[in-house]
Amino acid sequence: MKFGHFDDAKREYVIDTPRTPYPWINYLGTQGFFSLISNTAGGYSFYKDARLRRITRYRYNNVPIDMGGRYFYINDNGTIWNPGWSPVKTELDSYECRHGMGYTVITGKKNGLKAEVTFFVPQDYDGEVQQVVLTNESGSDKTFKFWSFAEWCLWDAQDDCTNFQRNFSTGRVEIKGSTIYHKTEYRDRRNHFAFYTVNDTIDGYDTDRDTFIGLYNGFNNPQQVLDGKCGNSLADGWSPIASHYKEITLKAGESKTLVFILGYVEMPVDKKFEADGKTINKEKALAMMEKYNTPEKFAAGMAELRAYWDKLLGILNVNTPEDKVNRMVNIWNQYQCMVTFNLSRSASYFESGIGRGMGFRDSNQDILGFVHQIPDRARERLIDIASTQLPDGGCYHQYQPLTKKGNADIGGDFSDDPLWMILSVSAYIKETGDWSILDAKVPYDNDESKAKSMLDHLTVSFYHIVNNLGPHGLPLAMRADWNDCINLSCFSDTPGESFQTYTNPKFKAEGGYSKVAESVFVAALFTYVGPNFVGILNHLGMKDEAAKAQAEIDKMKKAMMDSAWDGNWFMRAYDAYGKKMGSHECEEGQIFIEPQGFAIMSDIDKDATKKTLAAIDERLNTKHGLVLNNPAFSKYYVEYGEISTYPGGYKENAGIFTHNNAWIICAAAYAGEGNQAFKYYSEIAPAFTEETSDIHKTEPYVYGQMIGGKDAGSDIGQTGKNFGQGKNSWLTGTAAWNMVAISQYILGIQPDFDGLKVDPSIPSSWDGFTATRLFRGAKYNITIKNPSHVCKGVKSMIVDGAAVEGCVVPYVEGKKEVNVEITLG
Ligand code: BGC
Ligand code: NOJ
Repeated sequence: MKFGHFDDAKREYVIDTPRTPYPWINYLGTQGFFSLISNTAGGYSFYKDARLRRITRYRYNNVPIDMGGRYFYINDNGTIWNPGWSPVKTELDSYECRHGMGYTVITGKKNGLKAEVTFFVPQDYDGEVQQVVLTNESGSDKTFKFWSFAEWCLWDAQDDCTNFQRNFSTGRVEIKGSTIYHKTEYRDRRNHFAFYTVNDTIDGYDTDRDTFIGLYNGFNNPQQVLDGKCGNSLADGWSPIASHYKEITLKAGESKTLVFILGYVEMPVDKKFEADGKTINKEKALAMMEKYNTPEKFAAGMAELRAYWDKLLGILNVNTPEDKVNRMVNIWNQYQCMVTFNLSRSASYFESGIGRGMGFRDSNQDILGFVHQIPDRARERLIDIASTQLPDGGCYHQYQPLTKKGNADIGGDFSDDPLWMILSVSAYIKETGDWSILDAKVPYDNDESKAKSMLDHLTVSFYHIVNNLGPHGLPLAMRADWNDCINLSCFSDTPGESFQTYTNPKFKAEGGYSKVAESVFVAALFTYVGPNFVGILNHLGMKDEAAKAQAEIDKMKKAMMDSAWDGNWFMRAYDAYGKKMGSHECEEGQIFIEPQGFAIMSDIDKDATKKTLAAIDERLNTKHGLVLNNPAFSKYYVEYGEISTYPGGYKENAGIFTHNNAWIICAAAYAGEGNQAFKYYSEIAPAFTEETSDIHKTEPYVYGQMIGGKDAGSDIGQTGKNFGQGKNSWLTGTAAWNMVAISQYILGIQPDFDGLKVDPSIPSSWDGFTATRLFRGAKYNITIKNPSHVCKGVKSMIVDGAAVEGCVVPYVEGKKEVNVEITLG
C-alpha cells in the first residue's frame, strides 16, 4: 500500500494523507541553519549543533506522536483546523504534502478555504522562511482568524528538557511590530537570539505558552484559538513561544500571501544592545527580514535553492531501464547523502540531537557517498576528522561539531576506525585528483604542535591495525569494530553500563580490552582498504613502502584463510576465550554478514567467494533484505555483549541492517553476479519498498538503518511479526554505501586514481544504460550496450571514437567533454 507517489520531474515525494504509518520527514538547510519537518509540519530547528543551539522545542517519544512544530491555526467561524492537519486533526477536505530538495509544501483545504504553506531555508541564510498562501475558493466572502505558532527552546536542548527548576524562570522575549524576539540569556551569557516575524501587520500576539494554549489544553486545542482571540501576553519565565494573530477577510476568489521568517542571529559582544543597554540591537535581524519579506523575494530564494540542487544533481545522472533506480540515483539517494554528511547521526526522528557528536567511522563513510557533490566540503571534513586522531593511529570515536575536539567521554579503541579514513581520503583523491591533500599538515589530537602530513595520518592508520594483532594474526577486536554491539571485552552484567565504553576490570591490566579477542571483520576491511594505501604510495614513488604495506596485506589474507575461513563463509571473530564466533560450530550466530563482502572484494580466494555468495543467499537473504546474522541470538551471551540484548530480528541481532547489505551488493557485483547484486539492491532500496509502505512504515524516499528481519517477533513466539518494518530512517551509513553500491559497483562508474573507471555489473536482462558524469572538470557521456545480455565484462571501450584497452578512461587534462561507449560481452 502506498501513501503518496514520486513526482520525479519536480524531484518531490507527494504524500496524500496526513496519516502516514510514521511521520515522514524532510530536512531544510544545508549549511548552518537546519530544520526537520514532518508531513504534518512537526519538527524543530537548530543552528549547527542540534544539542547546543536548539532554536525550537521538540518532545521525542510523545503521545500522540510528533507533537510540536511550526503550526498555523485557522478558526473559520468555529471550524478550527491546520493546513497540515496536525495538531488539531480536523478532517480536511483535501491534504497534500510535497517533500522536495530542501523544501516542503503542505496544502490543506477546508470549507472552501485553501492554505498552501511552503517551508525552506534559503542558501547562506540562518532562518526558515515560510510562505502561507490563503485562497478563498468558497464562492462567497470569508472572514476568518489566523494564528502562527512556534515554541522556543532555551538553547541547550539537553538542559531544556531536564533543568526545570532554573528554566521555568529564565525565559525572555521582546516584541516590536510584527516580530517576536526570543532572548533568553541574551542579557548575560549569550550573543545570539532568535526571532519569528511576518511581513504584515498583526492584530495581536502571544509569547507566553500558558496564555496561548492554556495550562490544561494541548497543541490540538489552544485556548486563544478556541476563543477566537489572542492574549497579547509577554512571557516572563515559564515557556516562551511566538504566535502572531490576524483577522483576515478574503473576497470570493481572492488570495492573501504572508511570509513568515524564523531566524537566528549572532551579534558581536559590543553591538548586542541599543543605547539603553538592554533592548536588542536589531540591525542584523532587520536586514535578514528585508531579504525575504515579499512573495517575489521568496520566489527568488526558492529559485536559488532549486538552482543549487540542479547543479549538485547534475553531476551524476543515469538513465537505466528501471525508473526506480533512476529516481534513487539521480535524486533521493544523493539527497540523503547530503543530509548524512551534514548531520552525521545527530538529529532525526530517531536520534534526539542531544546524543552523539560526529562519529569517526560514520563521518568517514558518509564522505564516500557525498564527495562528488562538493569535494571542498569533503576535504574540510577530512581534515577536521583527521585532526582528532591520536599520534599512534588510534582515534577518538566521536568529536563535537561545535568544538571539533575529540570526545574524551567516549574515548577510542574501536578497532575499525582508522581504516575508514584511508578509504575516505582515497575516495577524495580519486574523485578530485587532488593529491595535495596528502601534504596538508594536520594536527594529532587537535594539537598544532603535533601536526604532520595527511600521508602520515594514513600511515599510522594502516599500521595501527598491523601493530595490534592477536594470536591468529588477525586484528584485535578492542571495544568493538563496525558492529558497536559486538563487545568482546565488556562482559557486562550490571544495568546502565555502556557496552561501548565500559571497561571490565578483568581487562584493565591489558589496557582495557582482551588481547585474545580478534575481529575477522577488521581483517577483511584491512585487505579491502589496504590496496588504496598501497596505490597512494606507488603513485608517490614510494616503492619500498608500498611493497612493505602490500606484504602486510598478503599476510592478513593468509591469516584469514588459515584461521578465519569456516568452510563455507568467513567467521566473525574469536572471542575473549579464544572461541570461534560466527562459525557453523556455534549454536547461534553461525554466520555474520559483515566480513563477507570485504573478503570477497579482496580476492582472497575464488572458491571462497563462490561459496560465500551462496551461503549469503541461503542463510541471510529474505524478501526484505539480508539479515545481519543467523540464527539470531535467543539469549544473552555475556561474552558477546550488546548484540545479544536485542530480541531476535531487530537491530544488530539479525535485523536487516541495510548499511552492510550494501557491502554484499558491492561484492556480488564485483564478483560478476550482477543479477544477485541487483536482487539485494532492490530488496532494500526505498523506491522499491514504496509499494509496501504499510509494512515498511518509514519514508519510501530514504533509507533507514534497520528493517525487521525474518526472526522479528521470535522473542514473543510470533516469528515474522514485524518482518519488513523499517526503523531509524535518514541518518545512517546506508545512504552513502548504497550510493556507492549502485553507482560504482552495479552501474560501475567508479572514480579511480588514474581516471574514471567504467565496469558495470548489471542485471543480464538489461539492454544497457546511459549516464552522464561530471568528473575532474569534464563531462563524461557514457553509453553501455549489453547485446549479449551478460552481467559483467567490458568487451570493448571506445573513447571519443578510439578504442581503449581495459575499462579506465584515461584522464586528459583540459578536456571538457568525453564520450565513452562500452559494449559488454
Ligand atoms: C546501537 C548501534 C549504535 C550504538 C551507538 C547501539 O545501541 O544498536 O547501532 O551504533 O548504539 O553507540
Ligand atoms: C550505528 C552506528 O552509527 C555505526 O557507527 C555502527 O557501525 C552501526 N550502528 C552498527 O553497530
